[in-house]
Amino acid sequence: MSTTTSTSTTPSTTGTDRADRADRDNRADHVAIEPSILYFGTPVVLLSTENDDGSANLAPISSAWALGSTIVLGLGAEGQTAYNLARRPQIVINVPGPHLWRRIESLAGVTGRFPVPESKPAGMRYEPDKFGVSGFTSQESEVVIPPRVAECGLQFEAAVARALPDVTEDFLIVEAHVLKVHADPAIVIPGTNHVEPAAWSPLIYNFRHYFGLGGELGHTWRSQTPRGAASQDSHTR
Ligand SMILES: Cc1cc2nc3c(=O)[nH]c(=O)nc-3n(C[C@H](O)[C@H](O)[C@H](O)COP(=O)(O)O)c2cc1C
Repeated sequence: MSTTTSTSTTPSTTGTDRADRADRDNRADHVAIEPSILYFGTPVVLLSTENDDGSANLAPISSAWALGSTIVLGLGAEGQTAYNLARRPQIVINVPGPHLWRRIESLAGVTGRFPVPESKPAGMRYEPDKFGVSGFTSQESEVVIPPRVAECGLQFEAAVARALPDVTEDFLIVEAHVLKVHADPAIVIPGTNHVEPAAWSPLIYNFRHYFGLGGELGHTWRSQTPRGAASQDSHTR
């Protein structure tokens, strides 16, 4: 990394920008590491799908991101969720807040797949009753068969538009088209379709540890929820 401090002053360069850059340049070089995992901090979502017998499977994952009305999911190819979606391509993507981390963790060591696939980590056990074991509450969906998870502040009912193996064939990359969005009224700006970002916090999976969000730093120019539009309460029920 360069150790020269730039003295250029373009019109858009602020004192803070220059201070940040100088701070960065003065730090030691990065070190090359070989981490066993690359989970750099993404929201946890809880997937509901329908089992062969009509019961529901629940599975937490952290490989999920939204693009327009599509949510892209990364799933282990041998899990029960992938099995269910290959047969019944409907899903609810439930988004828990940080306060639900222990319930999410109660689902970390179980699979709805029987027998437990060899590819699953040692110690994983079969559990057909994911709602029972986690204490989450099943809530009927409106446009898909799998149920919603009542405790989750955001729930996306969706249909799988495409599911393809990744290059390793260990995972399935699923594109889910969102059909209906449900939100806890406590995180919605009254009378609008906007989520109040100051009232909502996802649960973040950060190198296998759970975190909530810190305070707001700022917003992008396209934000439709200007500051002060709703309460500053965090969604921590
Ligand atoms: C916080 C968290 C994040 C996870 N992220 C993923 C993920 O992104 N993709 C995945 O396939 N499994 C992920 N898992 C593991 C699955 O939850 C686990 O394999 C589970 O057995 C899947 O259940 P199923 O086989 O019943 O579908 C995650 C687990 C936890 C607790």
